[in-house]
Amino acid sequence: MDGGRATIAGLVILSQDVHRIFGGVVPELASRAHVRAIGPVVDQALADAGVALEQLDGIAVTAGPGLIGALLVGVSYGKALAWRLGKPLIGVHHHEGHLFAPTLEDPTVQPPFVALLVSGGHTVLLDVPTWGTYRVLGRTRDDAAGEAFDKVGTLLGLGYPAGAEVEQLAASGDPHRFRFPRPMLKELGIDGPDRFTFSFSGLKTALLRATQASDSLDADRNDLARGFQDAVIEVLSAKTAAAAELLGYPTVILAGGVACNRALASAVRERLHPGTTLAVASPRLNTDNAAMIAAAGAWHLARGERASWELEAFDAGELGGQL
Ligand code: KG4
Ligand code: ZN
Repeated sequence: MDGGRATIAGLVILSQDVHRIFGGVVPELASRAHVRAIGPVVDQALADAGVALEQLDGIAVTAGPGLIGALLVGVSYGKALAWRLGKPLIGVHHHEGHLFAPTLEDPTVQPPFVALLVSGGHTVLLDVPTWGTYRVLGRTRDDAAGEAFDKVGTLLGLGYPAGAEVEQLAASGDPHRFRFPRPMLKELGIDGPDRFTFSFSGLKTALLRATQASDSLDADRNDLARGFQDAVIEVLSAKTAAAAELLGYPTVILAGGVACNRALASAVRERLHPGTTLAVASPRLNTDNAAMIAAAGAWHLARGERASWELEAFDAGELGGQL
């Protein structure tokens, strides 16, 4: 930690092969993989960073939301480490961690900002006037954006997770061959509760029909990927830019695994008013990682916050929503 701010000393990337083999996340396997990996991963991260356990200011651990079995492994390990070292323990909300990711590379990124958090499990548009204050402007009413990328990836015969591969195929796809619906886009123009609401399950069904109607998936794959991605991006970017304009904030943040998508970032950037800047971390910090959790933890620690020994892991709950 550097004056209450986190800097990256080491970043261990864990293989997701255990999930790739089964085409998705198997909770039981994820928990077992965590039990096996957590000790060696912590050792390697400390070794890479050249930091001894005793030099740590505190222990930040993801408390949720997510797979409860995997979270329990981390929370229990974090408690044991904090107890053994006599250091403070901080429980971090996974989504708050994602929001801190851009600050690791650019410390000038600070609230107030509008944040679009798009991951495999969540799609939420947030008003963040200060760190620690998260007001939900809108969320998905069904599938998350990343989940839609992954399901469409399966329909296109790709591996899991498919987001990066769909993006790659879409880059060489014809944008005019397949036009899919823009779900909930017209609500943006209506001053009602669904202005900033998203929905992606219908789009997935539209893709299913298009793949069924296709004579050759090999010939159509890139164009289908392009049609799907354009539809998702148009809705995400239009609502994000409109929220930024409504709140008049100088900064917009893209966070979560789907923020790795460069087409999404450029579409949002294009729609923002001059003077509004878009902050996006590099891909390794947008997909789940410990550095972003440390950054959020450092902020809580600097405020003197401490978790009690009763810190719990939780499987559901949105930032700014009811936990
Ligand atoms: O935040 P994250 O690493 O894990 C969760 O907390 O869910 O997000 C993973 C999600 C996956 O659905 C993956 O397909 C998606 O992020 N993703 C992408 C891209 N890279 C990863 N989606 C679209 N385009 C990408 N380039
Ligand atoms: Zn995540």
